Parts: sequence; structure tokens; C-alpha cells
Amino acid sequence: MKRIGWLAPVMSALLLAGCNNSQSALDVHGAAAIELKHLILLFVVVCTAVWLAVVGVLVWALVRRRGSGEPDSAGHERTLRLAVLTAVAGTVVIISGLTLMSFLVTHRIDRMDDAALTIRVRGLQWWWQVIYPDRNPALAFETANEIHIPVGKTIKLELEGADVIHSFWVPSLAGKQDLVPGRHNTLTIRAERPGIYRGQCAEFCGLQHSHMAVLVIAEAEADYERWAAAQRAQSVASINPEATTGRTVFMNKPCAACHTIRGTQAAGKTGPDLTHVGGRQTIAAGLLETTRGSLAAWIADPQTLKPGNNMPLVPLTSDELRALSAYLESLK
Ligand code: CUA
Repeated sequence: MKRIGWLAPVMSALLLAGCNNSQSALDVHGAAAIELKHLILLFVVVCTAVWLAVVGVLVWALVRRRGSGEPDSAGHERTLRLAVLTAVAGTVVIISGLTLMSFLVTHRIDRMDDAALTIRVRGLQWWWQVIYPDRNPALAFETANEIHIPVGKTIKLELEGADVIHSFWVPSLAGKQDLVPGRHNTLTIRAERPGIYRGQCAEFCGLQHSHMAVLVIAEAEADYERWAAAQRAQSVASINPEATTGRTVFMNKPCAACHTIRGTQAAGKTGPDLTHVGGRQTIAAGLLETTRGSLAAWIADPQTLKPGNNMPLVPLTSDELRALSAYLESLK
């Protein structure tokens, strides 16, 4: 099993390459990210112009110094004072301008129109708990590491750190926002185009900080509604005998003490809600693609795949492991 350890990053890189997920602040498909990209370009253009001007003046001064003899002191003093004053005034104007632009963009992003949907995102070491609240508690549901949103709608994310400070960053959609224990931060996102947008925790939060990815899946409203309706439903007992055995294993082993599977007696709150885990693209916060094999590998040795995480090793026979992974995969 030790050998699987180094395979994890390779598999996740392959998975990423295969998914063609966008994760770049320059490949933007969200209202806030588009504004921020324009701001980045403005900064780059202005700073490049300033740099070129400074280098130009430097070269000119070097050339001129070599060519001229003793400068006439009164005239020289006047020119020097004028040059310094111009440089100071230019610096003040440019820095004030960039600061003002920065302020205006942030202000505009913060005031994006009323949210069509509010989603609670909690950062934990090292995964994302995603809660879709509803006035009617029976319609609320929970998932992990994957946020589905309807495209073209403004979504308000309520962000909270459960243990340490994390930072939510999906560069193609919006800027960063910290998840701080005891604080309620918000972030508004809106995807302008359907797609899968990868995000990554952007605040060092411990050993597995780099394995704390999140996917935002923006889809047409009808598709989103279909997904949400399926998520609201309780898990369906599979008729496959192996999965049925796996369900018994899950309920009788410590699994049920940490994970919830709605529709069963499993109601643990420590780990991710697994009601529809088989329908998610990845497990362990983007570490592995959700397949029966990766579920089995994860359960068999979570500490080799993601050292330091809170998932304990539950001793299982190979038959139990096979059945359990078949059951979890069946939870679509
Ligand atoms: Cu969570 Cu870094």
C-alpha cells in the first residue's frame, strides 16, 4: 500500500489534465474575475510604462553625463529640482489612480446584484463542507468539495473556518476570501459560462493544504435544479447484493459514527456527508477521481494517501472492503 502514496499526486495531475478544468485568474468566466483581470492588466500596463520610463531616463542620464562637460550650476540645480518634482508628482498621481481603480473595482464586485442563491461553505482540515440551506429544513442538503451553481445567477457564499484559517479561491470566477473561525465572511460569485472551475485553498492551513481543492460546477438552470432535487433525496438502497452487504458493513463499523448517509441510521458529523458521494467527481478534496477502486484505496489506507487527515484506518477484510466500496460508489 505504501506504493500508492506517490501515485496520488500523479493521479490527481492526470485527473486535472483530463478534466480540462479552468483554474487561472487570466482565464476568466465569472463576473468578479473579469473585473479583476481588467484590473490586473491595468496594473501591468501602467507599471510597465513606469519601468520603461525610469530605465529610459537612466540610460539618457548616463549617455548625457559622459557627453557633457561641467554643468552650469544654477541652471543644473533648477533642472534637477524640476525633474524631482515631476517624478514625485507623477508617482503620487499614478499610485492614487491605481488605488482608486482598485477601490472602485472591489466596491463594484461587493455590490453585485441580489443573490439568487445562498450557499454555506465551511473550510475544514482538509476539505470543504458545502451546505445548501433552505427555509424548509427538509429541503436543505449537504455535500462536499463540489459546489453546483446555476450559470448566470449571482450566488452568495457564506464562508466560515471550522478549525483554522482557510481561503476560498476559484480564480476563474472570483477573488479570494478567507474562512476564519468565528467570523462570517461572504463572497459573491457568478459564472457567465457553463463549466467546471477548479479552486484551491489559498491560505496555508497545515500538512495537506495543497490537497484542499474544490470544484465549482456551473450548469444551465434546469440541470442545476435536477441536480439539487437529486441531492435533496435520501440515499436509495441498492438492489446489488454486494452493495447491500457494503451498507451493512458501513453501519456496523465506525464509519457511521463520523459520516452521514441520509436515509440510513448513519448520522455522524465529523466527516463529509456521503449521501450522494458516488455522484461526486472526486473524493478527499480533489485528491482522487471517484471510482470504486479509488474509494477502496482511500478506505484501505487514508493516511498514506493524505497523511495527517482525520480519517482513521478501519480494519476490514478484503471482502468487506470490496463490498463497502461497491456500496459507496452506488450512492449516486
Ligand atoms: Cu485549507 Cu489551506
